[in-house]
Order: sequence, then structure tokens, then C-alpha cells
Amino acid sequence: MFIGAIGCEPLQLARVHLENSRSLDVYRKNGGYEAIKKVLDSMSPDDVINEVKKSALRGRGGAGFPTGMKWSFVPKDSPKPKYVVCNADESEPGTFKDRYLMEFVPHLLIEGLIVSSYAIGSNRTYIYIRGEFAWIVDILNQAIAEAKNNGWLGKNILGTGFDCEIYVHRGAGAYICGEETSLIESLEGKRGYPRIKPPFPAVKGLWDCPTVVNNVETLAAVVPIINIGGEEYAKIGIGKSTGTKLLSACGNIKKPGVYEIEMNISVEEFIYSDEYCGGIAKGRRLKACIPGGSSVPILPANLLLKTAKGETRMMTYESLADGGFQKGSMMGSGGFIVLDEDQCVVRNTLTLARFYRHESCGQCSPCREGTGWMEKILHNIEYGKGKMSDIDLLWDIQSKIEGNTICPLGDAAAWPVAAAIRHFRDEFEWHIYDPQEAQRRNYGLANYAKPLEVVGA
Ligand SMILES: Cc1cc2nc3c(=O)[nH]c(=O)nc-3n(C[C@H](O)[C@H](O)[C@H](O)COP(=O)(O)O)c2cc1C
Ligand code: SF4
Repeated sequence: MFIGAIGCEPLQLARVHLENSRSLDVYRKNGGYEAIKKVLDSMSPDDVINEVKKSALRGRGGAGFPTGMKWSFVPKDSPKPKYVVCNADESEPGTFKDRYLMEFVPHLLIEGLIVSSYAIGSNRTYIYIRGEFAWIVDILNQAIAEAKNNGWLGKNILGTGFDCEIYVHRGAGAYICGEETSLIESLEGKRGYPRIKPPFPAVKGLWDCPTVVNNVETLAAVVPIINIGGEEYAKIGIGKSTGTKLLSACGNIKKPGVYEIEMNISVEEFIYSDEYCGGIAKGRRLKACIPGGSSVPILPANLLLKTAKGETRMMTYESLADGGFQKGSMMGSGGFIVLDEDQCVVRNTLTLARFYRHESCGQCSPCREGTGWMEKILHNIEYGKGKMSDIDLLWDIQSKIEGNTICPLGDAAAWPVAAAIRHFRDEFEWHIYDPQEAQRRNYGLANYAKPLEVVGA
């Protein structure tokens, strides 16, 4: 893993290179648990919420919802217990930042959880972690025990009367359990079916009690926000994209890894600079990129580096979305997947469609049936059995899934198909028009893509 140098101090990954970065000792010697001291010494829960609001922190799990606002939806006068749940399910293909943070700086997440619990008045929090991360469960449990033994966690923290317990709960390997209401169902011991919203978890969540569900990175970001202050944090980045952002970069780049960036660099810098991805591997050219995890629309190179208006595309929520879905994409969960000129968009789309079909929970018919149909049609096209009318049929199916399902997994399945057809229709047509050649080449139709969609490095 590589961590790029950033303009400001790294706020989340600063300690990962230290020897024994997981230990409480190293965490404390490098400024750890100061945020808790500050909060419990001198701040009310409302002060903490206001500080997070001032920071303009947006949730890092994918939707980018303002964190301080989400916390303020929790009813203060509710007689029920309140819960903070950390979403550590991280199953989106291409996204692998949270596991890195938990593996190397578990105390940062623990500190963030305690501060967040104090802010919303919760005494019991859960980390719902992807089942496959078994070794990270051990790391977290060890860090929790260390924090407890040293008075940072448990009963009467620092003698202030504030109690906070953290429990780690392992999922059983379903992507859908990353969706917050499905996660709550699973935590309650039920099948991971998403709930219809509203009511939102902030009002009716775990065991029908007010619950805040936040991503690992979001909760970890709360610590530097308290340490440096919300206003200072908001000065980092551009516009509504404040602070630093973890990105997991993979695909055909020279330096795959997890990077912490200040949200004020261009996409071009992120891909080509030696501080980050180091350029396209094997001297090939950039063809396309899925900038925010498998659910977000793929962008061809010409629309990736510049927006449709010809402006430099920046690594911010707003700039990545500039042009809407016609000509833009999304920051999503920060899984930055780069495709070089040899990659086949049809094959890539089929791989994603197979994933979403497999992960659909089956509650709503557009998603349950539509994901399967899309996979079959894409399979036919990729393997030389497609018809020209299949492309319009695919378009039709995805458009009928989008917006018509209980949870956003339906959209997440539809968007990659729509974007692939929108930007790479000629590749689909070529697969159908010349199936033998498509089969012979097995992959890599880039030479047949429009020249505009392949940009030199
Ligand atoms: C199918 C699906 C999977 C999701 N997986 C995750 C996940 O693994 N981690 C995560 O933080 N959010 C995931 N989300 C988003 C959560 O529902 C929720 O928005 C998020 O945990 C809120 O945290 P945030 O406000 O800190 O971003 C997923 C959403 C959907 C629809
Ligand atoms: S959209 Fe798909 S995953 Fe979500 S509730 Fe409906 S069937 Fe389940």
C-alpha cells in the first residue's frame, strides 16, 4: 500500500507507517485520544455536533450525506437507548480503504466512535464488519481491550461519568448488508433485507431505537475535526468537498494502493503523479475509469480528465459529478478503478452485472429479475451470441430498475450498464457485428473504440 504525500498533514493515515501503529502506546505518543479528552473536558454533545457541522464533513460510505446534519436528526428527548453503528462492511468492488484504516490505526476508529457516541448520547456502539475481515476483527478486539484497560473506553471514561462500550459484529459476507437498514436487520439477527425508508435509522433504527450509521472513514474523520476544529477542517479541500479523502486505487496503474488526498487535486494529477497512482502501467494509454467504486458510472478518458465544459476535472464530490450522469460520475465510496486501452468494457460490465445479480436480496422484482436479465444479455453479447436489439433491451431494463426499488442496490446495478452503453456503445455493437473477432481477441476492444475515448498518457 502507498500513501501519497498531501498538501496538508495526512489526517487519517499519518500514523500507519509507524512501527506498531496498532498499539495504544504508539497511538497515544502521536496525539491519540486527545480528542476524547477535549470533548469530555470542555464540550457538550451539542458542541461536538456543531463542530462536525462546521467541518461540513460528508459521509464517506458513498452517499456523501452531511454527517453533522445526520447526527442532529437523532431525537434528543427519546426515552429509548441510542446507538452508533459503524459500517465496516466494505464490500463494494474496488473499495478497500476502510480495512486499511482499521488494520493499521484501529484506535483512530475507536476514538472516533467514542466521540460520536458522546455527541448523540449513545452508550453502546457496534462495528458491523465484513465477515471476510476475520483478522481485522482480532485487531479491533485487541485495540478495544487495550482502550478499556487504560480507561479510554468502558464505564466512567476518564472519571467523567460517561460510559461507552464497543462491540464488533462479523457479517456473513453479503454486500447488501452494507446498506444501512439491511445492516441493522442483520445486526438484529435477521436476514439482511433492506427496510423501506422513511423512517430513517436516526429515528427508528436498531431495535427500533434512534441509530446513527456511519462509515469507518467518516467516524475516523471526526477525531481530526475535534483536534483542529471544524472551521480549520473546512478550509481543507474545495467548496463542499472539505477535508481529506481516502481513495483506494486499483486497475491498470503503476502504484495501486490506499491514498489520502486533500480534495483539491485534479484527476489527472491523481492518476499520473508519482505521489499517487504513478500513471498507467505497462506504458499503455488510459481508456476509462470508474472513479467511486463499482456502483458509479464509468467515464471515458476524455470525460475523466476534463469536464464536458472543458474544465479540469478535480477529485471533489462536485467536480466528479459535473455533467450529471450524461457526462459525469460520482465520488461514491472512493474506489478508483482505472482501465487501460486493452480492457474490454463489455466484459467489465458483465463482471459487474454478475456481481449485482448475485448480491440482489430479491425483495423487489425490478432488481431481482432485472439484474439476472442484464447479466444474461451481457453474457450473450460478450460471448458472441448477441443481437443488435439486445443493446436497446439492456438500456430498457436498466432504466426500469433505476428508481423503482426499495434500496439503492437496484440503482447501483443499473448505472454501470447505462454508462457503459452511453459511452461505449460502439464496443457493444462490435461484439455483435463481429463476434468471431471479438472471441478471438478474447478481451481488449480498445483499438475499436472511438479515438476520442482513448487519450494518450
Ligand atoms: C448495496 C449497498 C451497500 C453499501 N455498502 C456500504 C459499505 O460497505 N460501507 C458503508 O459505509 N456504506 C455502505 N453503503 C451506504 C450505507 O447505506 C450508508 O449510506 C452509509 O453507511 C452511511 O454512512 P456515511 O454517512 O458515513 O457515509 C451501502 C449502500 C448500499 C445501497
Ligand atoms: S433493490 Fe435489490 S437489493 Fe435492494 S431491496 Fe430491492 S431486491 Fe433487495
